[in-house]
Amino acid sequence: MKLTQVITAGIAALAAIMLLDRAGSFRPPAEKLVTTKPAPAPTAAARNKALPKALPADVKHQDTVESMPQGKGQEETFYLCAACHGTALIKAQGMTRERWDSTFQYMIDRHGMADPDKADRDLIVDYLAEHFPPRRRGRGQDNPFLKN
Ligand code: HEC
Repeated sequence: MKLTQVITAGIAALAAIMLLDRAGSFRPPAEKLVTTKPAPAPTAAARNKALPKALPADVKHQDTVESMPQGKGQEETFYLCAACHGTALIKAQGMTRERWDSTFQYMIDRHGMADPDKADRDLIVDYLAEHFPPRRRGRGQDNPFLKN
């Protein structure tokens, strides 16, 4: 065989492989490629936009509105967040606004928390970010070389 014939045959074989690959012959069906589970369907509570004005009757802690620091959004945050758990769980955290926002979303997606409209969400996430910001722990707090 001449060199040109070898090259032509090689190109033809490559083209055939590429065509088969485009047709999907070498790939598993798309549904097999999906590794993450689809998000669960939103619960009735997650679709509820109204902020609660009181705690559910079967709540398992003794916290009151006063358990949360005073400020704009205190009541709204308390009645929404303390429906499932005490406020200690929240007060133990110190996070950026962004991370409070994703915690908020996690409570909706994972635990079926009510999903309030944007204004209420902003009010509560602002409140959380203002009162429970990230804390820097340990040494180096006064170290000028560790400014971030
Ligand atoms: C529908 C029930 C429900 C509501 C409402 C709820 N949470 Fe939670 N939350 C949970 C459960 C259950 C856990 C414990 C399991 C977990 O961490 O996923 C939890 C855990 C947490 C934790 C601890 C996470 C950790 O890693 O230690 C924080 C912080 C928190 N919630 C914040 C909030 C805030 C802020 C709100 C209000 C905006 C809220 N939660 C509203 C159910 C809820």
